[in-house]
Amino acid sequence: MNAPLSPEALDWRLIGTLDDIPQQGARCVKNGAMTIAVFRTADDRVFALEDRCPHKNGPLSQGIVHDGCVTCPLHNWVISLETGAAQGADDGQTARFPTRVEGRDVFLKLIPSV
Ligand code: FES
Repeated sequence: MNAPLSPEALDWRLIGTLDDIPQQGARCVKNGAMTIAVFRTADDRVFALEDRCPHKNGPLSQGIVHDGCVTCPLHNWVISLETGAAQGADDGQTARFPTRVEGRDVFLKLIPSV
């Protein structure tokens, strides 16, 4: 018999494989009313942010992924994929979520990082 899953393990959701996320693009995952954008970088790192730009709620999932950041498609704010923070002179923060890649499987933790 398998050991029971820890509460920590239950927070992780398998959302697909790396191949389901376009390289330098994103795929959206719904979590209740919230949309989470899961990004894949050119070197296959995976990050997740709420799909709302901290400027005026632009859809970050439709932005361009580059240099560990995403550029918002609306007014070109640059948001760090690692921290969710606006870069440069812009000031703002979007919620970020932990991700994990095992083999090619991508897991998302639905509790925001602090
Ligand atoms: S809404 Fe993203 S830069 Fe304005």
